Amino acid sequence: MELFRKKSVDYALEMTRKGPQLRRELGAWDLTLLGIGAIIGTGIFVLTGIGSLTAGPALTLSFILSGLACLFAGLTYAEFASIVPVSGSAYTYSYVTLGEFFAWIIGWDLILEYLLAVSSVSVGWSGYFADLLMGFGIEIPKSLLTSPLEGGVMNLPAFVILLLITLLVSIGVKESKWVNNVIVVMKLVVVLLFILVGFFYIKPDNWTPFMPFGFDGVFQAAAVIFFAYLGFDAVTTAAEETRNPQKDLPKGILWSLGICTVLYVITTLVMTGLVEFKLFEDHKESPVAFAISVTGQDWLRGFVSVGATVGMLTVLLVMLYGQVRVGYSMSRDGLLPKVFSKVNATTRTPFVNTWICGLICAGLGGFVPLRELAELTNMGTLAAFVLVSVSVMVLRKTQPDLPRAFRTPWVPLVPILAILFCGFLMFKLPGTTWLRFLIWLVVGLLVYFVYGYRNSELNKKN
Ligand code: ALA
Repeated sequence: MELFRKKSVDYALEMTRKGPQLRRELGAWDLTLLGIGAIIGTGIFVLTGIGSLTAGPALTLSFILSGLACLFAGLTYAEFASIVPVSGSAYTYSYVTLGEFFAWIIGWDLILEYLLAVSSVSVGWSGYFADLLMGFGIEIPKSLLTSPLEGGVMNLPAFVILLLITLLVSIGVKESKWVNNVIVVMKLVVVLLFILVGFFYIKPDNWTPFMPFGFDGVFQAAAVIFFAYLGFDAVTTAAEETRNPQKDLPKGILWSLGICTVLYVITTLVMTGLVEFKLFEDHKESPVAFAISVTGQDWLRGFVSVGATVGMLTVLLVMLYGQVRVGYSMSRDGLLPKVFSKVNATTRTPFVNTWICGLICAGLGGFVPLRELAELTNMGTLAAFVLVSVSVMVLRKTQPDLPRAFRTPWVPLVPILAILFCGFLMFKLPGTTWLRFLIWLVVGLLVYFVYGYRNSELNKKN
C-alpha cells in the first residue's frame, strides 16, 4: 500500500504554472480585507442569539475562548500555508508534505466545512433578509422561514439565494477585489456603529448574572460560535494572485483574525448589555438587529439589516468558491471522479461541480436548522485544524530544512495549544454531531479505498 505517497513541491508548483497565469497584485492588506470579507457573517449576526441563550452575557468569554483556539490554529495554519504557496488549501499543502492519505482526510473534512458553512450562512442570510423586508411592510410567513425539522415547511429564502449564488459561481462571476472591499468596509461600519451607538444605551444590570449557566454554558456556546471565525483559511486560496505569498499570506490570516476577534468581543459585550439575554429567544433569526432596536434608532436597525444581508453574500460566494476549488483539486488529482474537474467550454468553470455542490447546499439550507448545520461545520473544521497542527509538528521533525517563510512561534507549544483548544471545543459539541461526523469519515474512507486510491494520478504516474 502506498498510502503516504506525496506530490513534490515542484510538481505542485508546476501544476499552477500550467494554463493562464493570474496577475500577482494582492498585498497583505488586500488579503486581510479578503479574510474579513469571508469571516464576518452569520456567526456574529445570527449565532450570537443562540450563543447568548446558552452562555448568557458570558458569551463574550465564549468568543475569547474560540478566538484563542483560532489564533493558535491560525498561527500553525500560516506556517503550513507558507510552505507551498499555491492556490488551494490545507488539502494541497498536506498532499505535498504528508502524503495522499492525510491529504484525503483533510480534503474530506474541508468539503464538510465548506458545504455546510455555505448552507449555514444561507439560513443566517434568510433571517436578515426577512427582517429587511419587514422594514418595507412585507412579511414572509414563518413556515417559509423555518425548516421542517423545526415545524415549518422550508427555508425558502435560503434555498433561493443559494440557487442564485450557484448560478453566479457556475458562470464564473468572481467577486472583484473592488466589490469585496466595498462590502467589507460596509460590514465594518455596521459593526462599529453598532458598538458606538449601542455603548450609550447599555444597562449594566443586564450583565448580571454574568454566567447564568456556569462554565459549561460558556464552553457549549464557544463550540457553536466558533463558526463566526471561519473563513480566515480562505485567504490562502488567493496565493497565486499575491505578490509575495510567503510573507503576505500569514499576515493576511493573522490580521483578519485579530481584527475580527477584537470586534466580536466588544460587539457581544454591547449586545448583552443592551437587552436581557433571555429576550433573544424570540429573536434568534436577527439578534443584532433586535438588540439595536431597543435604542429606538430605527435608521441603525435598517442599516444593520442591509449590512448583514449584503455582507453575508460575500461569505456565501467565498465559501462556495472554496468548496468548488477543493473538489476541483481533489478530482484533478484523481481522488474524486473526473466530473468534478471537468471545465465547461463556454463558461470555463467547473460548471457541473458547482451545480452539484450548490444543489446539495441549497437542499441543506432549505431543510435543516441552522444550529445543526453550524455544529457539524465546526466539527469538520476543528478536525482539520487539529490535523494541520499535528502536521506542522511532524514536519518540523521529518523535514526540518523545508523552506518556511513563516514559522509558527514556540513550536511545539503553539500547535499543542491549538490541538488542546480545538480538541476541547470538539468535545463540547453534542453527541449527534459526533455521530454525523463519524459517519461522514467512514463514508470518506470508503470512497478513498474504493475509488481514490486506485484512480489517483500519483498511482497512475508510478
Ligand atoms: N465566519 C463566517 C460566518 O460567520 C463563516 O458567516
